[in-house]
Amino acid sequence: MRRSYIWCLAGFVIVCIIWLHLLLENLKFVIPPTKHKFFNFDNVTGVEEIIVPNVIHFILFGQNSLDFVSFLSILSALKVQQPEIVYIHSDAEKFGGHYWTVLQTLSFPNTSLVLSYRPRPTHVFGQPLSSVYHASDVARIQVLMECGGIYIDADTLILRSLNRFRHFEMAVGWPQGEYMGTQILVAHKEARFLPLWLNSYRHYHPRDWYYNAGQQPTEQILDKAPYLVHRVPGLFGVHNLAARLYGLNPWPQWHRMFTVHLLSRHAPAPQKLDEKFVIHYRAPFGDMARWLLYKLEPKVPFPQAGHYIYSKSMNTSICSIGGSSGTAIIY
Ligand SMILES: *[C@@H]1O[C@H](CO)[C@@H](O)[C@H](O)[C@H]1NC(C)=O
Ligand SMILES: *[C@@H]1O[C@H](CO)[C@@H](O)[C@H](O)[C@H]1NC(C)=O
Ligand SMILES: *[C@@H]1O[C@H](CO)[C@@H](O)[C@H](O)[C@H]1NC(C)=O
Repeated sequence: MRRSYIWCLAGFVIVCIIWLHLLLENLKFVIPPTKHKFFNFDNVTGVEEIIVPNVIHFILFGQNSLDFVSFLSILSALKVQQPEIVYIHSDAEKFGGHYWTVLQTLSFPNTSLVLSYRPRPTHVFGQPLSSVYHASDVARIQVLMECGGIYIDADTLILRSLNRFRHFEMAVGWPQGEYMGTQILVAHKEARFLPLWLNSYRHYHPRDWYYNAGQQPTEQILDKAPYLVHRVPGLFGVHNLAARLYGLNPWPQWHRMFTVHLLSRHAPAPQKLDEKFVIHYRAPFGDMARWLLYKLEPKVPFPQAGHYIYSKSMNTSICSIGGSSGTAIIY
């Protein structure tokens, strides 16, 4: 009698410990410090003042020049968002080429286009990163934690000003029933989601394409604490729009999108996209490209040859709006 009572108690204690452990495991990612400056932040209306700097970050690892799509993406940042600074974070020793040269010929008096040398992260929490894509996934979180601003993938276009999202701690594209998109992130550098997201790389899955970038932060953090971000379900265009972009049906509503992810590396996107091809391309992507190139000022002239400049010798200090420590290549 005594004995079974003790066993019963022991069993109960063990169950309690396991339950508590699971509970803590579950809560591990979301421990919002109550003293944080964004504690109780209103993710629906944001705040009246602008709290995210008008700075755009591109991360181009493992390439020393721009292809047409990344050129168009940078052009859309310059022409549509008109930021104070566009940073190209590059790990190339030498950067340049045709489209980079074309960008230099254009005049954006209110924007600095800054090539910033940034070594590619090789590890995350001691674990080797398995690809240049995962390195860029990690680096975008780090860049936003350093500076804040707008991170955008070089295969994503800005079609409308993102200024209205600069009133939020952080805004992300997160379609209903899908994982969050990482192609466009608008964030204050102290946004609570950023360190939680980075920290979730302690459970790094090197072979999974989108586990740490999208699946884990959605399931482990945002599903539990959706107040951490301003959710944009559709108008960031992070869901699959390939049929609209490259199909032959008209899609004039693209003008309502703030950004659109082009999925340009995969069919049905045409595989030889350049300035000559888009002149006559009839799908909606052709309309977007011509609008960005020729409708918005300044119109883009295409010269013949490109040249290269050295970036590695430049020790760029980023986040330097107003201040001027370090050197940067500023055009
Ligand atoms: C640059 O900024 C100035 C002052 O705010 C403004 O008057 C001018 O129109 C801007 N130029 C362009 C090309 O946006
Ligand atoms: C704001 O956060 C709540 C949870 O507090 C969430 O249900 C809602 O979807 C969020 N709204 C937006 C616009 O992100
Ligand atoms: C860049 O400059 C910073 C401080 O000015 C220095 O700590 C850092 O080591 C330099 N990096 C390189 C790659 O020279």
